[in-house]
Amino acid sequence: MTTEFRLQDHPVIFLKPHITHPYAWVGHIPFMYVLADLLRPRSFVELGTDSGNSFLAFCQAVKTLGLQSRTHCYAVDCWKGDEHARFYGDHVYRTLSAYQKPRYGEFSTLVKAYFDEALEQFEDGSIDLLHIDGLHTYEAVKHDFETWLPKLSSSAVVIFHDSAVHDRNFGVHIFMEELRATYEVFEFNHSNGLGVVPVGTDVPEAFKAFMREALSRPEATRAIFEAAAAALLDPETGMPSGGADAVEHSIECLMYYRNDGQIFEEARSLSIIHAGGTDATFEFELPAGQRPHHVRVDPASLPGTYRLVNVGLRVGGATMNLFAEPGAPRFVVNGDVLPSAIQEGIRFISLHNDPYVEVDLRGVWEQLGGQDEESTVIVGIAYEQVLAAVELQALADGAARALQGAKDEVRRQRESSPIEQLALLTRGQHDDVRRQLTQLAEAQENLERLVGGLATSISTHEHANQTGNA
Ligand SMILES: C[S@@+](CC[C@H](N)C(=O)[O-])C[C@H]1O[C@@H](n2cnc3c(N)ncnc32)[C@H](O)[C@@H]1O
Repeated sequence: MTTEFRLQDHPVIFLKPHITHPYAWVGHIPFMYVLADLLRPRSFVELGTDSGNSFLAFCQAVKTLGLQSRTHCYAVDCWKGDEHARFYGDHVYRTLSAYQKPRYGEFSTLVKAYFDEALEQFEDGSIDLLHIDGLHTYEAVKHDFETWLPKLSSSAVVIFHDSAVHDRNFGVHIFMEELRATYEVFEFNHSNGLGVVPVGTDVPEAFKAFMREALSRPEATRAIFEAAAAALLDPETGMPSGGADAVEHSIECLMYYRNDGQIFEEARSLSIIHAGGTDATFEFELPAGQRPHHVRVDPASLPGTYRLVNVGLRVGGATMNLFAEPGAPRFVVNGDVLPSAIQEGIRFISLHNDPYVEVDLRGVWEQLGGQDEESTVIVGIAYEQVLAAVELQALADGAARALQGAKDEVRRQRESSPIEQLALLTRGQHDDVRRQLTQLAEAQENLERLVGGLATSISTHEHANQTGNA
């Protein structure tokens, strides 16, 4: 008798996950729960764990299904980040470990290593489920698959995140196409895509039944898991909805850096978690040799009132406080600058979740010298008010839209008011007169040059005549 895949046999899909920023993987958690039930693997290995959304979901399912004595879960990550995810500090590993150890420590291990280094810790033919979610270039994904292939058991399944991303040099989709020549492949399209590939020749019957169902009715299968995902993440905003235990968004201070001609992007960013309290000083150590023309400081990805108290640069032993410099560099604020009783720094409010200050550093690094030395950007921030609660963020967003609408209306009215029209007219006439005066001055200069030239040629002529007559 062939087994049939029936979702009602897997109530584990309804578990409530613990999730934390970044949320890109969260939409696949319902499938991860079901997958744990379908495969009941002896060994699950994840390449790329970051803050742990996918890994913790799998551990949660293992525990709920009572598989602790059968299944061991390994999370492999250098916990430094990469150019597609972001670069981050040790706090990500520490926070994950503090959550994982007491709950799932008896059957799961965090392996802090590069993927290639970790290989030797696993026996050939030992892994039943492999999740590949490291760097997403075509070369990196192919390399991760090929190097870990010998470690897979005969009943192994491999899942690949980000198979639906086609920009930023993501190449998982290309590799998925290649795999289709050899294996069955099913892909979810939501939450950046997830490729599901049975690699072993002897995968469990329950999983085979799922693949039969998914490949014969792909749209229906996708729709079910997409709907389950929507209970965890709002498809519009990508923010947690009620179905997940979202850890209150940690306050993460980010610094982006770039040179002229580049854009601010994750690949050139550094992140530090704000440890709490009002005032904080962050030291962002730039990769060796970097002397960016511009930096951008995002105190948090949350609405709030912030004060940038200090921006300093350090190169070797030399430091410079940019606010204390005469002719301080140019600052651009994304938010509304507020009056401050304290003279120091830039105080601003943002009702959106993207407050930041950009600093133009062109010509500044040169004053510090030390071309080959390590450089650090030191940022002091006062967190006056931060809206961390999700409901308050929605409220602030609504208020921001209303305020923007009111501002636009005031501008429209001002532009159409008679006084403003008159002012515009006068300004126009003023500009015309200034233009005419400039043209007049130029004409006069030309005339003077002409007269000067004429005078010189007359005097030369007279002189020649006199010499001839003599
Ligand atoms: C996209 S994130 C993983 C997301 C995670 N699965 C989740 O649920 O949110 C990619 C992670 O892979 C790690 N990484 C990338 N390449 C690596 C490598 N070669 N060795 C070790 N870790 C790597 C990065 O440190 C980063 O934390």
